[in-house]
Order: sequence, then C-alpha cells, then structure tokens
Amino acid sequence: MIEACIFDLDGVIVDTAKYHFIAWKALAEELGFEFILDDNERLKGVSRMKSLDILLEIGGLQFSEQQKLAMAEKKNMLYVSYIEKMTPEETLPGVPEFLQELRNKGIKIALGSASKNSPMILDRIQLSGMFDVVVDGNSITEAKPNPEVFLKGAEKLGILPENCVVFEDAIAGIEAARNAGMYCVGIGKPEILGMADFVIPGFEEFTFEKLEAPFPFPPKWKA
Ligand code: BG6
Ligand code: MG
Repeated sequence: MIEACIFDLDGVIVDTAKYHFIAWKALAEELGFEFILDDNERLKGVSRMKSLDILLEIGGLQFSEQQKLAMAEKKNMLYVSYIEKMTPEETLPGVPEFLQELRNKGIKIALGSASKNSPMILDRIQLSGMFDVVVDGNSITEAKPNPEVFLKGAEKLGILPENCVVFEDAIAGIEAARNAGMYCVGIGKPEILGMADFVIPGFEEFTFEKLEAPFPFPPKWKA
C-alpha cells in the first residue's frame, strides 16, 4: 500500500544539472583542464565533496582537504548565483500537478536530496509548502547509495519503508531506495535506470493511478 512518496530534488523536481555543470566547469578551467558534459553525468546524485573528488580525478590533480573545502565553497558560490535566480517556471513539467494530486489523496510527501541547497531551491520554485518533511544534505551524514536520506524521511513521516515510493533520476539514488527497502520509480531512460521498479520519462501525464497500477507486485528488492 502506498502511504508516502519521497522525491529526490535535482533531476526529478528541477533541472539543476546545467547549473552544477557551469559551476564545476568554471572551477576546472581555473585549475587548467576541461570538464565536458559527458563527465557531468558522473556527478548526478553525488555529494558536493565527492563530486569535487571526481572532478579532480578527471583533471589528474590532488589537493589538501583544506584546499578542497575552499574549492567546493567557491563552486557553490557560483552555483548559488544561478539557483537564487530560479523561478517556478523551472519546475519540471507535471511535478506541481502530481504533488497536488498526492496531497488531495492524503499521501504523505517528503524530499530526500543530497543537496545542501534544497531549502533555497524549494523556496525559489515555491514548492516548500508541498512537503511534509524535508531531508537534505544538511541533515544526513551518509551519501546515496546509503539509504539514510530515505529512511530518515520515512521515519519523520511515521511511515514504514515498504509503504514508501521513491522517485529518483540517479543510479546511486535508486540503489539507496532499494537499500532502504522502498519501491522505486526511475525518472529518465530505462537503459540507464534499469534497477528501478519502473521508469518514466517525467511527470507529464503521470497520475497516482498509473503509480498504483503495478501494485501489489513486490518491489525488485524483494524478488
Ligand atoms: C545532488 C546533485 O542532488 O546534490 C549533485 O545531483 C550535487 O549533483 C549534490 O552534487 C549536492 O548538492 P549541493 O547543492 O549541496 O552542492
Ligand atoms: Mg537527482
């Protein structure tokens, strides 16, 4: 039985990958190497510091922890300069309607994101009020694929993991949902997100009825 839906933020509710890319690319250029769009895929769903590690690995560079913290801070300042200008029009198609449908049906809604900028983004797109619970990069210690972010969300909502559905666009996030023992809907391409219980391209035309259709089949993690 579906009692709660837990949403990832970046790539599910908003397309912020383009802003992360601009900011990481600027840092790479400053460090003297090129960062290309294909490599940006590797940073999806990954925490800020882990993203920096991947970037530096691409550039073949090594720095002290202190230097890395300063770089991550600098990247974040540029990233924030973009997201602080976001408007509700940047919400991905169908998302507000689907959230409203869940609310009308009495389904609980949580955010489960790695981003420390989640509160600002939700505020800018005017969707903060839709979430019963927000668990983000500020309140977790373990990054996806660790299930902490989703388990915390379920716990705060007071709903059992098996009655939660996670919406995720990143492989690490789908793994996290499975590790949490939750049903998982992938947002994107089936050939990339094959580990999800099912995959949809986005929320346009998506309804609660379509979400409920595959139930009561057991989620893949139980198979
Ligand atoms: C995830 C994004 O949601 O949040 C990652 O997919 C990002 O690309 C991570 O690195 C951390 O975000 P922030 O906003 O705290 O730097
Ligand atoms: Mg994501």
